[in-house]
Amino acid sequence: MPDITLPIRTERLILRRFEGRDLDAFHGYHSMPETARFLPGPAKTYTQSMERVGKYANFVFEKEGDWVCLAIEAKGSAGLLGEMVLKWLPGRGQGEAGWTLAPGARGKGYATEAAEGVLKLGFEELGFHRIEARLDELNTASAVLCERLGMRLEARLVDKWHYKGQWATELVYSILEKEWRTRG
Ligand SMILES: CC(C)(COP(=O)(O)OP(=O)(O)OC[C@H]1O[C@@H](n2cnc3c(N)ncnc32)[C@H](O)[C@@H]1OP(=O)(O)O)[C@@H](O)C(=O)NCCC(=O)NCCS
Repeated sequence: MPDITLPIRTERLILRRFEGRDLDAFHGYHSMPETARFLPGPAKTYTQSMERVGKYANFVFEKEGDWVCLAIEAKGSAGLLGEMVLKWLPGRGQGEAGWTLAPGARGKGYATEAAEGVLKLGFEELGFHRIEARLDELNTASAVLCERLGMRLEARLVDKWHYKGQWATELVYSILEKEWRTRG
């Protein structure tokens, strides 16, 4: 399968490969405990942010098990707003999406718009059959986003993880290519 075509352009956004210049903005929101609340691991140190941005800048997306993390930028205004992840899961045509926005970029529909760009990439360019999202049940902003995207709640896995000092119930949302194609 070919590598992906970047940048992805939506109505208001550009999704592109990470660059070194994104580091300070990335660290700005990933060093906040509030951003880390529903992500694996604690708020990032500067060294961890450097490692992440370096890894994201140099991604290879060619086979099952590969994943990409794309920088989200507003059209006409350079600067990192957040990131979208797409994983190519093992098994035929399976993907997983994930998202994080800087606090100042939330509440404007940017995550919905960027996620739609990533679903389009997965279904229309990569030929995926099904894309899922996995989240902590307490992460209501993320669950609302899944529903706004037309994803179905498929599973509720009680006490599936233990992180941030407590058990967490995992919700699995998904959407099939035919549902994406025929959504309203
Ligand atoms: C999950 C997360 C990305 C959701 O962000 P979000 O800002 O709520 O989602 P969107 O960017 O799609 O914005 C939707 C909101 O913008 C509003 N909005 C404003 N203008 C809009 C527009 N032009 N189009 C669509 N929505 C618009 C919507 O009404 C909605 O507001 P509401 O939630 O009060 O109803 C964000 O909370 C986040 O980064 N959390 C921390 C990291 C995290 O937990 N990641 C997920 C791990 S599973």
